[in-house]
Amino acid sequence: MTDIQGKTGRKKVLLGITGGVAAYKAAELVRRLGDRGIEVHVVMTEAACGFITPATLQALSGHPVYTDMWDGRIANGMPHIELSRDKDAIIIAPATADFIAKCVHGLADDLLSTLCLARDCPLIVAPAMNRQMWEHPATQRNVAQLRRDGVTLLGPDSGDQACGETGMGRMLEADELAEAVSAFLEPKILAGKRLLMTAGPTFEPIDAVRGITNRSSGKMGYALARAAIAAGAEVTLVSGPVSLAAPAGVRIERVQTAAEMFEAVKKHAAKADIFIGVAAVADYRVSKPRQHKIKKTDESALTLSFVPNPDILGWVASRPKPPFCVGFAAESRNLDAYADEKRRRKNVKLMIANLAQDAIGADDNEVSLLDDAGTHRLPRAPKDIVARQIITHIAGLISRKTRTPR
Ligand code: C5P
Repeated sequence: MTDIQGKTGRKKVLLGITGGVAAYKAAELVRRLGDRGIEVHVVMTEAACGFITPATLQALSGHPVYTDMWDGRIANGMPHIELSRDKDAIIIAPATADFIAKCVHGLADDLLSTLCLARDCPLIVAPAMNRQMWEHPATQRNVAQLRRDGVTLLGPDSGDQACGETGMGRMLEADELAEAVSAFLEPKILAGKRLLMTAGPTFEPIDAVRGITNRSSGKMGYALARAAIAAGAEVTLVSGPVSLAAPAGVRIERVQTAAEMFEAVKKHAAKADIFIGVAAVADYRVSKPRQHKIKKTDESALTLSFVPNPDILGWVASRPKPPFCVGFAAESRNLDAYADEKRRRKNVKLMIANLAQDAIGADDNEVSLLDDAGTHRLPRAPKDIVARQIITHIAGLISRKTRTPR
């Protein structure tokens, strides 16, 4: 586990649980936030304790759970102030219609509502309620006011509800919430930057049903897209065929072939401040793919002829005013030497090198960052963590480049 490091060190949040059936998802949320290096402290309303016990949340968070204004464990007797003071955000999940109404009107009749009123940190709310409660004009008015007050709303989603009805009002799943909270807490080091990137494999057709592709899963590229969004960038992702969900907030263009990927990149390149080529683009394509399925014959050999594909990254980097270009080099040996040769040949500012046999399809990655200053190795870590470190490195290089010399 790697911690999210902010200015104040490890990020800490206060998770407020209110009385809805979705309270069971809060237990999972504590774990998923912990996976992302975020320390969680829990406060529950009395009604929440009817759905899930404080003991469960204490065991999962590793910290005492508070439910009462008059809790004697806070030395100065003011838990309603003290519990939020060292936190980076308060997250209410699930947030009932009643609790949202209380926040909107500034009511403070229990520990959690008082903490929300007395806070000096951002408030994030994940609503969860029956669809008719959600659609009620009173709730909609309250939600609109909450947004005007600067509160961040995550969800709700639509789907099956515990009451047996179907519609809007389901709380987001724990993993989605944890991802959004983690992004919210990330410093906005790429704010205002437009990032264009490619990810995944390409698929080069041979005939109507067959083609040539590679084992790239798209996981590294999608992790980078999420990290860039979290860092405040505007992201356009040109993706080859992968089985991953589009990262929230990313503009995605799905393509199959290298030629289609090239066309999509050409469309957006002029507006990009940064270009990252993560895709494993096929070097060659079949020169004349057959329109119909090739039939088996008695011939002992079948010959296909190939033509080279355009080098997308090379094209972007050689534009008159290129964006800040980053490439990936997956090699099976001589990693640093091959990657550095590629960096110079393609004229990119940063080349990220990894061992193909280690990285392709895996959830972890171990990379080296090669730039004008030399080689910087990152320890093996989950791709989401590696992605954040790469984004931090890119932001550092860009700010150094744009800083005016004295
Ligand atoms: O395939 P190669 O090792 O040359 O890939 C290095 C970098 O160039 C990668 O970032 C890849 O996305 C990019 N590339 C590209 N178009 C190609 C081949 C590679 O953009 N046709």
